Amino acid sequence: MTDLMSKIISLCKRRGFIFQSSEIYGGFGSCYDFGPLGVEMKNNIKLAWWDEMIKNHENIVGLDAAILMNPRVWQASGHLTAGFADELVECRLCHKRFKLDEIKDKKCPECGGELMAPRKFNLMMKSFVGPVEEEAAVTYLRAETCQGIYVNFENILNSMRLKVPFGVAQIGKAFRNEITPGDFIFRTREFEQMEMQWFCHPKNAKKYFDFWQKERLKWYLNLGIKKENLRIKEVPEKERPHYAKQALDLEYKFPFGWKEIEGIHNRGDWDLSNHSKYSGKDFGYVDEGTKEKYFPYIIETSAGADRSFLAFLIDAYTEVKGGRTKTTRATKETEILLKLHKDLAPIKVAVLPLVRNKPELVKKTKEIYQMLKPNFMCQYDESGSIGRRYRRQDEIATIAVVTIDFETLEKEDVTIRERDTMKQKRVKILDLTNVLKEKLGI
Ligand code: GAP
Repeated sequence: MTDLMSKIISLCKRRGFIFQSSEIYGGFGSCYDFGPLGVEMKNNIKLAWWDEMIKNHENIVGLDAAILMNPRVWQASGHLTAGFADELVECRLCHKRFKLDEIKDKKCPECGGELMAPRKFNLMMKSFVGPVEEEAAVTYLRAETCQGIYVNFENILNSMRLKVPFGVAQIGKAFRNEITPGDFIFRTREFEQMEMQWFCHPKNAKKYFDFWQKERLKWYLNLGIKKENLRIKEVPEKERPHYAKQALDLEYKFPFGWKEIEGIHNRGDWDLSNHSKYSGKDFGYVDEGTKEKYFPYIIETSAGADRSFLAFLIDAYTEVKGGRTKTTRATKETEILLKLHKDLAPIKVAVLPLVRNKPELVKKTKEIYQMLKPNFMCQYDESGSIGRRYRRQDEIATIAVVTIDFETLEKEDVTIRERDTMKQKRVKILDLTNVLKEKLGI
């Protein structure tokens, strides 16, 4: 593991972003829990994506489909056949298993041992519905959220009176029995996807494929990811998912290499025509004007909430050797500054009394905290020196720190300290909410 990844994992645990699932029992197969700050940040990412799709674009509606679906969905989608399988090889010596495409020189990457012949390994997670396992119906945890959108194609079209082209957005959990999960939350067996399916006339598929890749790149850049850490990779035909006519990976430069954070696919009519065939429901669309009947092509943008979380975190992570404050002697150790975009930062405002042993100061601080709390995600902190508390807030990306001091009691004003510049200014308590709202763009 790289030094930077160790630091990120340590920060995540120390400051309540991410914990290992079932840690007290030794963890469980690359599963993770998002802690108090992690859930705020992840919700912020999902909200930014939802707003982008639903508010900033026209003709996109939302959906929240069930995770468990009729197993025939997965027959129709091709996920139960060879299409959704990885090739697995096992070492004869240490019995570790690897994805075939991770093997470089036909030897076990761990011990150099001889490898057995590759086997196909389906990634669907199987489960059972009903109390008695032997009699119960087999079901699968969804491997991609979008199938819930396709099977509801007609319901959405009719209930919302939509016309092609239009889009359906959905955020939700997906599950894959990955052979080699790893790299922290990069590849896990349970993860969250943010998927938008754009239904269009086949002749316009290329135009929208180009449009959506530009839009998606812009979204990451607008939320602060550095341009040099993002790239688009065209996926060659033999590596494309079974449903894709054309595919792009939007890649981020992780400490462990360039890796996909989002897939953009032209799925053609694969999904609608197969669901029509398997269900008997005709998903052919009739254009009201031309009377032409066709299966709309689907351009999908499929982002991982967890992978983007990791990318945003890594991109924002900054170390300042010797500390940022030049005015005190006490801050000479390396400081961590998390430069998350204001929309993604888990805590927007911290409220601190200058010292905690003056009851009138603490009382006033708590009043101000209560005043701000309904408007912003706030944190009250009174333990440790003021410098140490500022640094604690910098480490979790808090945008503004409001400090209540002795002058506050006389003049009814406070200081606001900005995270990135450390600039401080005094603001009247009466104006505080509006000044912070303006700063946070809300
Ligand atoms: N519906 C298309 C689809 O699922 P994908 O490229 O297989 O496409 C899309 O997945 C995104 O979902 C990926 O770019 C990644 O961000 C996320 N993802 C996929 N498998 C994952 C895993 N095992 N762990 C975490 N995220 C994953």
